[in-house]
Amino acid sequence: MAAEKKSVSNFTVRVGIVLIAGCILVPITLVTMFIHYAVPLQTLSLLFSVDPASSVILEGKIRSHNSGRSLCDFSSSRSDVCKLKGDVRIILTNASVVVVVVHPSAKHQSWRMKPHPRKNDRHALARVTEVSVTSTPAAELAPECTAKHAAAAVVFSVGGYAGNMFHDFTDVLVPLYITTRRFAGDVHLLVSDAQPWWLDKYRPLLRELSRRDIVDMDRGSLGGVHCYPHVIIGLDFHKEMSVDVANIAGGGGYNMADFARLLRRSYGLTRDTAIRLRDGDNNNGAVKAKKKAPRLLIISRRATRTFTNVGAIVRTAAALGYEVVVGETELHSDLGAFAQVVNSCDVLVGVHGAGLSNLVFLPARAVVVQVVPLGGLEAMAREDFGAPAIDMGLGYVQYDIAVEESTLARRYPRDHRVLRDPAAVRRDGWLALRSAYLVGQNVTLDVARFRAALSRALQLLRH
Ligand SMILES: *[C@@H]1O[C@H](CO)[C@@H](O)[C@H](O)[C@H]1NC(C)=O
Ligand SMILES: *[C@@H]1O[C@H](CO)[C@@H](O)[C@H](O)[C@H]1NC(C)=O
Repeated sequence: MAAEKKSVSNFTVRVGIVLIAGCILVPITLVTMFIHYAVPLQTLSLLFSVDPASSVILEGKIRSHNSGRSLCDFSSSRSDVCKLKGDVRIILTNASVVVVVVHPSAKHQSWRMKPHPRKNDRHALARVTEVSVTSTPAAELAPECTAKHAAAAVVFSVGGYAGNMFHDFTDVLVPLYITTRRFAGDVHLLVSDAQPWWLDKYRPLLRELSRRDIVDMDRGSLGGVHCYPHVIIGLDFHKEMSVDVANIAGGGGYNMADFARLLRRSYGLTRDTAIRLRDGDNNNGAVKAKKKAPRLLIISRRATRTFTNVGAIVRTAAALGYEVVVGETELHSDLGAFAQVVNSCDVLVGVHGAGLSNLVFLPARAVVVQVVPLGGLEAMAREDFGAPAIDMGLGYVQYDIAVEESTLARRYPRDHRVLRDPAAVRRDGWLALRSAYLVGQNVTLDVARFRAALSRALQLLRH
């Protein structure tokens, strides 16, 4: 998971293609636009590749109109996004988009793009349907509209690693929230590569994001040419499973905690905040009867990255005053039902990448305890789950296991490179890392050591 991470270097210019949809030259708008997108004028006449098979010529002359500005941004390392305005026509049956750009120097040009935010991940993109985009200078050259819509549309693919909950949220649902929020529900979602079960699983949330029927581009019965005044192809990506408030033009006024609130509402989860322990509550609170105990959920998986001593973990947590719940997640299980269980808890304990994404259902101020197995995964673990948890307003405790707590310690001699030098294994590539540490490892927690992490979580519930 999250195999590819590339930080955008400082000198990466945010390149925009500005297609002209209006004809009135407004110098003031031009100036604001350049400040906003920070694109030097000469950049706009560059020729650059979108992918090896196609390229887009950027127009040198920019004219703009307050509302009629179309723009493609291919500068992000994760996501290509085109925001087309004016007269945009979509042929659903072959995922092609035509934008009419009326301007004396406008040319006919086409390019292809994959509307899924895992841009440099070929493995994921192999399962993403390409969208073809054409800009044409004359409306007569565009296919005739058979249906005209007043609302905007967002075109995206669920493809990639759909079904893995971390990827569902980080690659699709949170970016979709960021992309659609400006429409306040009045937007058409045009989806490709989505299995019907996937749409069903996330339908409560999708309904919150869009009041209109989802258009399944692979199965839809809708033929013809659909026309929209505003179409976004691709999804805005900020960071792993979260919203980067600094990345939103004008601040946006929303963050990951707002996403979590919306998600809870969509699944009918009633707990908005976790239990608040008082200073007087000591570690044996539960034993002292009647007092409500904080609930702790241990997510245990059966196949990989399993806790081999769940019983001992449960006893340790119970001794600290927790009411303990052990939950298992399965790929196609009833998400709503599991979300209720998660939401009823105050602390979530899980191994990195083994169901931890369920933290999105926790009430605010709950605590996530991430157990990080061997493999030099500490930083990735923090980025994938720690930062999102904090952005959501949760407490976060990271427990990096000791060598003795890994089943790898029983499988390999102590001087074996798998135990001694995870960095070397990582250099062999993602697959080597995955098989050595993510598939090949279970965890036997040293409960005497882990107790400190559980106490820390109790302490955070007091704040
Ligand atoms: C999509 O279909 C339309 C109408 O059938 C056709 O005119 C157009 O060329 C097709 N586009 C692509 C990219 O295949
Ligand atoms: C981890 O535990 C599960 C469940 O007991 C088992 O099926 C699996 O083979 C174990 N994996 C390793 C690498 O020990």
